[in-house]
Amino acid sequence: MSPQLTVDNLFARRSIRQYTDEAVSDEEIRVLLEAAMAAPSAGNRKPWHFVVVTDAQLREQIAASHPHAGMVRQAPVCIVPCGQPSLSFEDRSDFWIQDLSAATENILLAATALGLGSVWCGVHPVQERVREAREILGIPEDVIALCYIAIGHPAEEKEPRTQYDEERVRRDRW
Ligand SMILES: Cc1cc2nc3c(=O)[nH]c(=O)nc-3n(C[C@H](O)[C@H](O)[C@H](O)COP(=O)(O)O)c2cc1C
Repeated sequence: MSPQLTVDNLFARRSIRQYTDEAVSDEEIRVLLEAAMAAPSAGNRKPWHFVVVTDAQLREQIAASHPHAGMVRQAPVCIVPCGQPSLSFEDRSDFWIQDLSAATENILLAATALGLGSVWCGVHPVQERVREAREILGIPEDVIALCYIAIGHPAEEKEPRTQYDEERVRRDRW
């Protein structure tokens, strides 16, 4: 892919919250997970796990538990990137949040490249959401859900864009 195409894909990634009934294939899910695990991580510790949720009852429970994740009900797939801090550095295990965020963004960008729509729904650091994700999906005590990613074929269109703001840019020093 040319550099321009790659950057265009990045601008094309938007939060898509309406999906058609069309299924997401196992091959597409595999590409999304490969993209996730291509992400950088501190010390290359890769402190991640990914729960792929397609079961409609589980998606319903997720949608009902989270005030801003109703679209998980309609999306055929929900990927839940989870961090296991003990797999990261002993004294700097909070790096797991950056590692898992990089993996999450890779999933969103890969979904866009495949023509799929997706949206990141935050879980960590809202403790109640972390607990509910643990209960619904049986996530172990030492593993933390970062977010829910709803994924499906888009039933809405959004314009590609940057939100470039010159005022947020400093050159050399603040
Ligand atoms: C950490 C994080 C948490 C988010 N949580 C939600 C959420 O719970 N529900 C939702 O619909 N969108 C959520 N979003 C998506 C943002 O609302 C969205 O990225 C933002 O409005 C910009 O729009 P865009 O993604 O189309 O560029 C979240 C995004 C991030 C990065």
